[in-house]
Amino acid sequence: MRVTATAEFMLEPAFFPPLEPNRDAGTSRDALGLGQRAGPGLNTRHGTILTLEDISVSFDGFRALNNLNLYIGVGELRCIIGPNGAGKTTLMDVITGKTRPSHGKAWFGETLNLTQMSEVQIAQAGIGRKFQKPTVFEALSVFENLELAQKTDKSVWASLRARLSGEQKDRISEVLETIRLTSAVNRPAGLLSHGQKQFLEIGMLLMQDPQLLLLDEPVAGMTDAETEFTAELFKRLAGKHSLMVVEHDMGFVGSIADHVTVLHQGSVLAEGSLEQVQDNERVIEVYLGR
Ligand SMILES: Nc1ncnc2c1ncn2[C@@H]1O[C@H](COP(=O)(O)OP(=O)(O)O)[C@@H](O)[C@H]1O
Ligand SMILES: [Mg+2]
Repeated sequence: MRVTATAEFMLEPAFFPPLEPNRDAGTSRDALGLGQRAGPGLNTRHGTILTLEDISVSFDGFRALNNLNLYIGVGELRCIIGPNGAGKTTLMDVITGKTRPSHGKAWFGETLNLTQMSEVQIAQAGIGRKFQKPTVFEALSVFENLELAQKTDKSVWASLRARLSGEQKDRISEVLETIRLTSAVNRPAGLLSHGQKQFLEIGMLLMQDPQLLLLDEPVAGMTDAETEFTAELFKRLAGKHSLMVVEHDMGFVGSIADHVTVLHQGSVLAEGSLEQVQDNERVIEVYLGR
């Protein structure tokens, strides 16, 4: 039997879909909203970039999110923690339009109703998501991955053939510096370390210039040095962007967040500084099972 691989096929990330849908991994396209651009002029008059009120999500009667309320300020770096099954990934699914809430309000800025927008519209409006597993195009170089993330043309080949403007090249150089991959610019992404692939994917998100970045367990599997660099990077990105980071690594959370939200059974259990939530009796009960 002859198998003819199409160009598109060869350019897909080198992983095989697991038998069970893996909710922690997207494809390059849905992780990045490839080619989507942040909409200009998001209205954040009251200083809130994301408003979630009374959000519930049910799966066959089971409430993965249960009357959840959450507000993220413009330029804030918020960490979301909580035990497995608390609803953290479902929360990101609701914000990005992947899952529709059965009930509740979700606003991006003052005027964009996320519950009525498609995933593509949400990405275009300026919400970028990074899944837990890096999903870069392994056969392409670091530069080409960034180039693709910037392009609005959906076809991989057309994007790579089109010529870049000086401004686009400058933006790529800037992002390469930000994610510390300047010296690896021509390396195939498949040859990067796990941590470098994560940085590249963050760089691909940055090419879209999203106003709100959602990051699901970004430091899982990273070395200590890579984790430290990620902390530095996120602190630098905050202010210019708003960040919502789901993470289990409390050392990392402590090093970046001034505000932490604890999720439990689909609702907010506590909110405050990491110290405050760690001292909270209900949080201690949930984590220690007392
Ligand atoms: N598509 C789905 N179908 C059925 N149950 C789901 C689905 N997605 C999530 N759940 C359930 O919802 C709960 C919250 O899951 P999740 O958001 O992945 O939690 P977390 O990311 O905090 O570990 C879990 O009990 C999970 O099994
Ligand atoms: Mg999860």
